[in-house]
Amino acid sequence: MIQRDKEWYSQFVRDSVSRIREITGESRAIVGISGGVDSAVAAALVHKAIGGRLIPVMIDNGLLRLGEVELVVSCFAGLGINLRVVDASSRFLARLAGVADPEAKRKIIGEEFVRVFEEEAAKYQDVRFLVQGTIKSDVVESGSQAEGSEDDKPRLVKSHHNVGGLPEDIGFELLEPLRDLYKEEVRLVGEALGLPRDLIYRHPFPGPGLAVRVLGEVTREKLDILRKAQAVLDREIIEAGWYDKLWQYFCILPNVRTVGVKQGGRTYGHLIAIRAVLSTDAMQAEWARIPHDLLARIAKKITEEVPQVNRVVYDITSKPPGTIEWE
Ligand code: XMP
Repeated sequence: MIQRDKEWYSQFVRDSVSRIREITGESRAIVGISGGVDSAVAAALVHKAIGGRLIPVMIDNGLLRLGEVELVVSCFAGLGINLRVVDASSRFLARLAGVADPEAKRKIIGEEFVRVFEEEAAKYQDVRFLVQGTIKSDVVESGSQAEGSEDDKPRLVKSHHNVGGLPEDIGFELLEPLRDLYKEEVRLVGEALGLPRDLIYRHPFPGPGLAVRVLGEVTREKLDILRKAQAVLDREIIEAGWYDKLWQYFCILPNVRTVGVKQGGRTYGHLIAIRAVLSTDAMQAEWARIPHDLLARIAKKITEEVPQVNRVVYDITSKPPGTIEWE
């Protein structure tokens, strides 16, 4: 990451505000809040520029973590930004039914997001822009910033929904004020905007949410198991003081069943995998050396508190060759 001083980020905010005002004119913009750092900072930046002409929408796609909607709504309320929550979980899950391929899942989720936005936007006059929290690593990994000769083109790693997964015929122009910044820089812009630390230093959470952590077909039942396991993991990681040491940590439900034994009886339950990594920009990541005692406690608590789970494994793969997410 390029080293820049505080003033650079304050100037970035001022420049962006005037550019966003110029670009948007009198039009309105809509933004989808995911609870992640990028969309939060993008929304706050555009809100600073155009205030009430920004329509901030949080879509509950049924793929969020336990208590996520309530948490994010109260956080934004503290910033004077009133989120509109749209419960679209049934339609997302209906469209994902029977779909196992990761890229197909991303495309469906990206498409559905835009359709829901379009429907929300139709409730207002003159919504011309869709604000996206796209950052540099999304652009590079999706290969969509390709310029120059063939050889310079970054290879498409995966179509992050906020870059390559958007349908071609979206009814908006894209506003992507963070496109040239890496994650750490986005956080510093957040600080320059006066956002609370808890929001700025939240770990990244992918746009397609738990759909890329329930491997293969996504069902309500599997999501429910994963959510419960994730809530236990969150509690244990935070209590042990590991949150700030990690770039990201999460549970994965690989849809693998194994034989186990609980209360003296044979079980045939779900496997939960845990991923925890250190990184500075998500382009590379190293698996985190969480102490064995903490891992043991996490495994014990998950198998005790989530009845469907009888086995927990820890992912010791770095990136490369693994990606951070499993799908
Ligand atoms: P990977 O798995 O590619 O992830 O190593 C790098 C970073 O990006 C996040 N990620 C996504 N974010 N839409 C997003 O908005 C996506 O489709 C997506 N896939 C991965 C991942 O959580 C990590 O922070």
